[in-house]
Amino acid sequence: MNIAVIGAGTMGTGIAQVAAQAGCTVSLFDASADALAKGRARLETTFARLVEKGKTDAAAADAVLGRITCANSLADLSGADLVIEAIVEKLEVKQRLFAELESIVSPDAILATNTSSLSIASIASACRHPARVIGIHFFNPAPLMAFVEIVPAVQTSAAVRDTALRTIASWGKSPALAKDTPGFIANRVARPFYGESLRLLDEGVADCATIDWSLKRLGGFRMGPFELMDFIGHDVNYTVTESIFTAFHFDPRFKPSFTQKRLVEAGFLGRKTGRGFYRDSELTTASEPAVDADLARRIFERVLVMLVNEAADAAFFGIASPADIDLAMTRAMNYPKGLLAWADELGIVWCVGHIDALYDEYREDRYRCSPLLRRMAREQRNFFS
Ligand code: NAI
Repeated sequence: MNIAVIGAGTMGTGIAQVAAQAGCTVSLFDASADALAKGRARLETTFARLVEKGKTDAAAADAVLGRITCANSLADLSGADLVIEAIVEKLEVKQRLFAELESIVSPDAILATNTSSLSIASIASACRHPARVIGIHFFNPAPLMAFVEIVPAVQTSAAVRDTALRTIASWGKSPALAKDTPGFIANRVARPFYGESLRLLDEGVADCATIDWSLKRLGGFRMGPFELMDFIGHDVNYTVTESIFTAFHFDPRFKPSFTQKRLVEAGFLGRKTGRGFYRDSELTTASEPAVDADLARRIFERVLVMLVNEAADAAFFGIASPADIDLAMTRAMNYPKGLLAWADELGIVWCVGHIDALYDEYREDRYRCSPLLRRMAREQRNFFS
């Protein structure tokens, strides 16, 4: 299969690597010749390191690199069966590119976008044949993350959807079908991990170190929410939250935090600037906080039930199947357990009671319980048993 990847940044080079490792020929293009050269150099460094570590041999590495060629112009992509776009996250720029691509590639070539936050329907609307457009959303780093969201737009044909699913599975990935809604599966369901933790901080329930400790120790999350936001960068994390909040017509469940906004405004972006919620020096010297066991449990349970509620609502609205929602959170977000399986374990009735108690206390729509959870509690059903 001939693959074209447009955008030789973080995601584009990773996707090119995945496709070439699966035996496809790949043309990589970037509007910036410098970015393209750097992308190529990054791929060479990656494979040199893989050979050094004994993960592959020199001949195999050469063969994979030999399958990736750099294209000098969009016109060079005319032979592609599948184009995957990973350029800047701007709707008009993506629309312009997709419209231009249609006059270059064959009529049955599939045009895929790796967008995280734009609607696939809006990108497809720029095309004369929107049925060929689909979202294929990889996670960073693409070569290591097995989970991929396949997002058909309302215009996408069933044949294009099936080919995308089949192709990504043949590359050794676990594709999951997702509805074309803000944040798709993983980025939507993960919001409360950050949002409810920020809310706890803003309410003065506990400090960052205590909240991080509670979620890591009691929940088994690899990183606490504040460590993770510092790691991702507040510019990126805040923008995703804000765009999902806006796209959901300001549903209070996704409301961004002023505390995080102020960090962005101050330029305290996290690791990349040496200061976010933590300062770099604290990260290396941080001692274990002395945490009250009851407080830790309250923090952990409140964040967890909000995550469960979001996962249940995603299932309720058919964003993806319950199994794929759990796969998204364990594979794309590295959660220790799928949230719906976790809900089964905790007891659906217990989850509903906990969410209702939050609602009773705050009387905010943010704490409304998903109708699916309530229905399941009434019918004494579980997600997986
Ligand atoms: P990046 O900034 O690392 O790379 C983007 C590349 O696209 C740059 O090299 C730029 O020169 C090139 N470019 C910009 N406009 C272009 C155009 N009109 N034609 C051709 N090339 C153009 O960005 P990154 O992080 O790789 O993201 C790319 C896409 O993937 C975005 O849509 C982003 O939302 C999405 N995404 C990013 C993830 C991440 O963790 N970085 C995860 C999943 C999706």
